[in-house]
Amino acid sequence: MSSSHEIEGSSNSSSLNSGIRGLDAMLDGAFPQGKVILVLGEPGSGKTIFCSQFLHYGATEKKEKSTFIGMNEVRHRFFNEMHTIGMDFDSLEKSGMFSYIDATGLRRIPHEAKVGRIPVGGKELELVNLIDIIQEAIEKFSPKRIVIDSISDLVFRFPTVEERRPVVLDLVETLESSNATCLMTSELISTGNGRVIQAEEYLAEGVILLRTIQKGVRSLQILKMRGSKIDTRPRPYVIKGNGIEVYSTEEVYQ
Ligand SMILES: Nc1ncnc2c1ncn2[C@@H]1O[C@H](COP(=O)(O)OP(=O)(O)OP(=O)(O)O)[C@@H](O)[C@H]1O
Ligand SMILES: [Mg+2]
Repeated sequence: MSSSHEIEGSSNSSSLNSGIRGLDAMLDGAFPQGKVILVLGEPGSGKTIFCSQFLHYGATEKKEKSTFIGMNEVRHRFFNEMHTIGMDFDSLEKSGMFSYIDATGLRRIPHEAKVGRIPVGGKELELVNLIDIIQEAIEKFSPKRIVIDSISDLVFRFPTVEERRPVVLDLVETLESSNATCLMTSELISTGNGRVIQAEEYLAEGVILLRTIQKGVRSLQILKMRGSKIDTRPRPYVIKGNGIEVYSTEEVYQ
């Protein structure tokens, strides 16, 4: 592996393990603690599974409380889908290690980016915004790991990068104030000539890119991780019955 020197012998005392098999070897051991990492990917590339493994591993192996803020999937769909690949979030929720926040209602509000009616705690609908949702989750649950999946519907309502930037900045700053390690997902925008650099890429501490290249091969690339020694080469990964595994010593042939 030509880039192995980049990660050999590295250690990071204020870090945690990602929960994705093969990824820690590319990451200087783990994600930087207390930072916001963007998981950028094509539809069906495994963004939700990736983030769920991060939370599940944290809650089960590290005894770190974990929160999933779902913008795409309603509660039962998330729990069911993750159960099929071996993650029992029901039990984790019952034992107080996991909380799921259903924020899917925010997608249906046409004009106000951050305002929407969502079911809170399975009870009445309340008017809240995503920043409030995150802050409430932090105050009530004190998670060490947080996921927002995904920010695309919210952010893409704004047509220009200039308009999107403050929305993403708001999100990133709110997440960072929690001192939790956070993943947020976003959909990859491609054009005929390649991909578009997105506002959230500049504002996140780290960016991981998931895409499918020729012949259906899945490729994971760490585009950046501020302050960490990383392997920046694209590496193949698979999604199997027990989740995502990255082959961190293998090459992707484009
Ligand atoms: N048991 C399994 N075995 C193999 N592949 C699976 C399995 N379960 C799910 N997958 C793959 O995982 C993908 C879905 O993963 P996930 O929902 O995490 O993707 P996503 O990027 O979040 O998608 P979306 O853009 O729709 O939100 C599917 O495309 C499917 O190919
Ligand atoms: Mg998803």
